[in-house]
Amino acid sequence: MMVQSTGFFAFLRLGLAAFFAVAFPAAGQPQEEVEKRVNDLLRTMTLEEKIGQLNMVSNGALLRWDDISSGRVGALLNFNNAQDIARAQAAARQSRLKIPVLFGLDILHGFRTQFPIPLGEAAAFNPRLSRLASEWAAREASYIGVQWTFAPMADLSRDSRWGRIVEGFGEDPYLGSVLTAARVEGFSKGGLATATKHFAGYGAPQGGRDYDTTYIPPAEMYDTYLPPFRAAVEAGSVSFMAAFNALNGVPSTANAWLQTDVLRKRWGFDGFVTSDWAGINELIGHGIAEDGAEAARKAILAGVDMDMMGELYIRYLPEEVRSGRVPESVIDEAARRILRSKMRLGLFDRPDADPKHVDSIFPSAEARQAAREVAQETIVLLQNRNKVLPISGSVRSIAVVGPLADAPLDQFGPHGARGHAQDSVSILQGVRAKAEQSGIQIRHAIGCDLVCHSSDQLPAALEAVKSSDLTIAVFGEPADLSGEAASRAHLALNGKQEEILRALAAAGKPIALVIIGGRPLELGTLPDQIPSVLMAWYPGTEGGPALADILFGDVNPSGKLPLSWPRSVGQLPLYYNRLPTGRPTLENNRFTLKYVDEAITPLYPFGWGLSYTQFAYSRPEITKTHLKAGDILEVSVQVTNEGSQKGHEVVQLYTRDPVASRSRPLRELKAFEKIFLEPGQSKRVTFQILVNALGFHQDDGSYWLEKGAIQIFVGGNSLADLSGEIFLEETVTVPLGEQRAISSMKVYRNDL
Ligand code: BGC
Repeated sequence: MMVQSTGFFAFLRLGLAAFFAVAFPAAGQPQEEVEKRVNDLLRTMTLEEKIGQLNMVSNGALLRWDDISSGRVGALLNFNNAQDIARAQAAARQSRLKIPVLFGLDILHGFRTQFPIPLGEAAAFNPRLSRLASEWAAREASYIGVQWTFAPMADLSRDSRWGRIVEGFGEDPYLGSVLTAARVEGFSKGGLATATKHFAGYGAPQGGRDYDTTYIPPAEMYDTYLPPFRAAVEAGSVSFMAAFNALNGVPSTANAWLQTDVLRKRWGFDGFVTSDWAGINELIGHGIAEDGAEAARKAILAGVDMDMMGELYIRYLPEEVRSGRVPESVIDEAARRILRSKMRLGLFDRPDADPKHVDSIFPSAEARQAAREVAQETIVLLQNRNKVLPISGSVRSIAVVGPLADAPLDQFGPHGARGHAQDSVSILQGVRAKAEQSGIQIRHAIGCDLVCHSSDQLPAALEAVKSSDLTIAVFGEPADLSGEAASRAHLALNGKQEEILRALAAAGKPIALVIIGGRPLELGTLPDQIPSVLMAWYPGTEGGPALADILFGDVNPSGKLPLSWPRSVGQLPLYYNRLPTGRPTLENNRFTLKYVDEAITPLYPFGWGLSYTQFAYSRPEITKTHLKAGDILEVSVQVTNEGSQKGHEVVQLYTRDPVASRSRPLRELKAFEKIFLEPGQSKRVTFQILVNALGFHQDDGSYWLEKGAIQIFVGGNSLADLSGEIFLEETVTVPLGEQRAISSMKVYRNDL
């Protein structure tokens, strides 16, 4: 959407300058001054000192403090309190040149106050809230001296077997670009530099197996996987992290096409790239380096500036340079990028961490309020037969059942940073607090523990269900089953959860299922037996109150799925923006796209999410149907709240190019806007999309906008009806060399 995307990036650029001034004190320095300071410093550095800047080491038993004070460490990770940070920075200040080290940590969705996990946050379809959540995470972490987060994760994924799908935004490149940029902006505003990761293709490992290889054709990289990273460059990401995986046979950590050609030459990125944890050593495992020296050489020559936890750069690069295998200018450039970033962040000019700062001052009431607001908008009402929800006034007793109803830590999900169980308000506590206000009785039973190997607890749970007017069943995926190294070959509810839920539903009382987890799970026959189903993701510290707000109807659900929800694991990878086939599904023809043992459609489509009210869409109007490159496509639609409850709706616009020189996706999200409507209220939403954004890449990297029809679909999810058609009047192709950059919303404007 032009209004949103152009304005959005313009805002980003302006906003960035403004908040750098606050968050990063030296950011106000003119670029030339920064370059001069960096070059002056570089001239005084020995080769070993420059290579020291390229070395990142973790806190822990193996850390050698002497390395810090002798200038052999440029960055440290996993320091999470101000005392240790201050001590380590003091050690760095003892080194000959007193260059400060950079402190990095994985802060994805909160530091002490936990916000919903990124995939859940994506379901809010609300960049303002993404910025807010990241800003809070950064504010808390930077208070104790952390300067750099290994986030956001910009890996698009269409395969929920991959555990790390929880850390991203789901399956759509447009949504992913908007939200990645918002996250970079929010983190920066709160005082953290970002390492946008994992560059690139990490979200599409074969079989959904973490760390496995990835094959993505170049055109698909340009159109689908790279745009969110490109958006991070636009939003000012200070650094990038190379991915573990091999992309089309070349490990990302030694992939010069990614780390140099695309990121630096085409996108103009001048910050630095770090490896992932021991990623350079893993080049030996990938089978492209014989030993540590060769691994170090390949990584640095490809454009990976920093070695995270490999110690290969400090060990081998001095000799690689002396022997002439690595030009010293390459080391200079890597050190320059790191020093430039440190300089821009103000590390040379600002006071070190104050050891008196402790994170126990968090979560503040304000942070809790923000976490609650974000969590409310992330919850997706997947189905609601018989209007089981919101809880009606006639309900006098509620059974809150399930292993995740009172699981304060698990509701944080993976990467809980400094989240504490005692800060977390569980779903049971949230529901109980609200029920007490209306004199509703609460019965609680776990049904089974988190592993759920036994149904011994079922009788107690059944008893609670039978004696209550309504059941809220809180089941799903314990946090251990989600995140890095948590790929799953089975996506059913773990242990005996499904069996227990079926027994609870069979009691015949009204029941709503709340799913906690980091990915869509196979629900089997449960959606037929349980009328209301909500996806609550890992909702964070304020998950309980936020969910209670939704269950009791104080807040109308407005989350929309950022991915297609499979019926069965065998459907994966599954995504709405797939290519057409010569044999589209026909009900009465076996030899068309289908499974013999499963439906071809997802259980719930991308963009799906219900509300307690009903939104009616007018017939969309297209201002001008014949358009050329550089023109604006304008589509407007009137949305009316026809129900009796106020609420948010995510108005979505999709396009399709039905005949092109390459197969084009059946649908592509090109714009969305979240609006708020009182009962009876109408609003006109006007989308403005730059026509240049309707093209696509070829494998050689050229960008084509082709003459012909483009179909438009507007509605509340990716099944929206056809709304009309426009015609592009000319074909414009932009060869690779002439493109200033590729694949971002801003770039489309520059390209043509
Ligand atoms: C992960 C990264 C993370 C790093 C540091 C790695 O295992 O892949 O995403 O930032 O560890 O904790």
